[in-house]
Amino acid sequence: MIGKLNHVAIAVPDIEKASAVYRNTLGALVSDKVPQPDHGVTTVFIELPNTKVELLEPLGDNSPIRAFLDRNPGGGIHHLCYEVDDVEEAATKLAGDGARVLGAPKIGAHGKPVIFLHPKDFCGTLVELEEA
Ligand code: CO
Repeated sequence: MIGKLNHVAIAVPDIEKASAVYRNTLGALVSDKVPQPDHGVTTVFIELPNTKVELLEPLGDNSPIRAFLDRNPGGGIHHLCYEVDDVEEAATKLAGDGARVLGAPKIGAHGKPVIFLHPKDFCGTLVELEEA
């Protein structure tokens, strides 16, 4: 069902500092930061030849990554995003198989439908599925 790895997301306490690490130390192509108030995060994308890394910094009081950063104050890998042909269909199948699908599909940071899957059902890793 899953296709390409779309991105690896890393939650960070300071997105400017994290961007500088990727741009200057690792020599990667780093986007400008984009506030995403609907998602409670500010994002930066790092383009690699075969995939992307997404840096996430909390935005606002109810950021969904706040608790993660409280547990991991220096930052850490937050989720993996895999591409699927049809998010709605994937969500229905996975829920039917007993997996915990977190909420209804919504439009993600790239303007495409996404859903999130509970880490306890996927080897301890929060999984995002994005429509390819
Ligand atoms: Co993501």
